[in-house]
Amino acid sequence: MAVHRVTFSPSGRSTQVAGGATILDGAEQAREPLRAECGGRGACGRCLVRILEGPAPEYRILRRDAGFPVVLACLTPVHGSLTVSPLAEVELPKLVSRERYTGLAPIEAWAPWPLKLEPIVASSGDADLGVAVDIGTTTLRLLLIRLSDGVIVGEAGAYNPQIPRGADVISRIIAAEKGLLEEMACAVRGSTASLIREAAEMAAADPAGIRGYAVAGNVTMIHLLLAADPSGIRQVPSQPQALAFAPVNAASLGWPGRQDAPVYTVPAAGGWVGGDIVAGAVRAGFSRSSDAIALYVDLGTNGEIVLGGADYALACACSAGPAFEGGGIRCGMRADRGAVDGAALDAEKEVLKLSVIGGADPRGVCGSGLIALADALFRAGWIDRGGRFTGRLPARQQVEGRWGIGVRLSHDGKVALWERDIASLIRAKAAVFAGIRSLLASLGPGFPRIQEAVVSGNFGRFLNLPAALGIGLLPSMPLAAYRYLDNGSLEGAALALLSREFLAEIGAYLSRITYVDLADLPGYMDEFVGASFLPHTHPELLQA
Ligand code: FES
Repeated sequence: MAVHRVTFSPSGRSTQVAGGATILDGAEQAREPLRAECGGRGACGRCLVRILEGPAPEYRILRRDAGFPVVLACLTPVHGSLTVSPLAEVELPKLVSRERYTGLAPIEAWAPWPLKLEPIVASSGDADLGVAVDIGTTTLRLLLIRLSDGVIVGEAGAYNPQIPRGADVISRIIAAEKGLLEEMACAVRGSTASLIREAAEMAAADPAGIRGYAVAGNVTMIHLLLAADPSGIRQVPSQPQALAFAPVNAASLGWPGRQDAPVYTVPAAGGWVGGDIVAGAVRAGFSRSSDAIALYVDLGTNGEIVLGGADYALACACSAGPAFEGGGIRCGMRADRGAVDGAALDAEKEVLKLSVIGGADPRGVCGSGLIALADALFRAGWIDRGGRFTGRLPARQQVEGRWGIGVRLSHDGKVALWERDIASLIRAKAAVFAGIRSLLASLGPGFPRIQEAVVSGNFGRFLNLPAALGIGLLPSMPLAAYRYLDNGSLEGAALALLSREFLAEIGAYLSRITYVDLADLPGYMDEFVGASFLPHTHPELLQA
């Protein structure tokens, strides 16, 4: 079989691939950090490269830059030796920090029942520190905590450096299967180590005083951190290497601290419901809410749901896709500077009023903005129950482009919302709503209604709750029945670090959670179809 050399410019990395392999295969083989957030499915448009030398299949050329063909690396086969130059910035932007935890004492602020400060690692003085880490698919966040009094002295966060290898967990698992497991493990360990140093610097503390770590994350993120093969997670049924891992030594991850500093990871309930959700549900008080049926929803690239009370609970994950994090949306972006994060209709002037992070002209739309926009458009009658434009969208609010009519969001019309974006959102919200309905049905007919709901995840308090109810993402209940948890995973990890009782409670609660695979529930697809409308086909249901 013919082999061809693929060289990346300007890095100079180079490899040989078999004829017909894609340029992205070459990038992965050469360890060129090319962005491939959809995992090579041709959907994200991030893997654009300019072909500087060598043959480019005509049918794959999207445009020419200074005479050089531009192609998607994941869809372009190699038929001769090539020199290519990636177009997308590999550097991820700095995370916009919306929260400040420093100075707060988690036991006082977050304990769902009276807990005493009793760290899971020994502490003998003010120099002793512990670290709580939330490893999310999109973001990493950590808290540096003084163990003697349980006060947060530093914090830091960043985008997960594995994003270029895939925006969602399935793409990361596929990347690991292609041989990038070690690379992704090193990336997340290295980035976390940098954040620890950043937080220590902020606290003017010596990271050598770190006595231990508590880490929460979804099952895939924990596998990738520990360099455990995640491929079994995406099998049906899901078969992770483990749901609970024994503590490892911090030094083995390249993390600072005392020589024997352990890293505890919060155990998971199932392949798609990780320790991040379990920690969050216990932090929200679910393990002790004996009289109520409570709902915990974490909205991210997956929607994870826990439904139940102290005695028993059901948990599941629904594949919401990346829409809630701005993925798969033409002008989608993460909740960063320039993102539309809210919208309301000025009915008199028939114009949309947008809120934009940082206040500038919009650069794109993030998940909370998308939900608010869909709700505003639906209320205005500009889109119908299927999310299609009704013809009532005012001309000044319109743009026209290759995707038809869109809603103008920026003055120049370059940022717009298209029908296909609304369709992606409807699929995402339908997956979550159908998951909730299916779990409720599993509890049996005549079961008490949900009395309390906790929303966590990247949205945190920035989710427009009335809009989320308006489009049928969440059950129609009085707003007072809802509460937000900014980061249940991180807060739960902090409590697990500071309280042996809390960590033991997580273990005990796990034994009362039944993990449900939605694919095994016969009614799930019907629920999904019914939820694929605005708000859904049965608004009379789930009313409080
Ligand atoms: S479009 Fe090529 S990796 Fe997403």
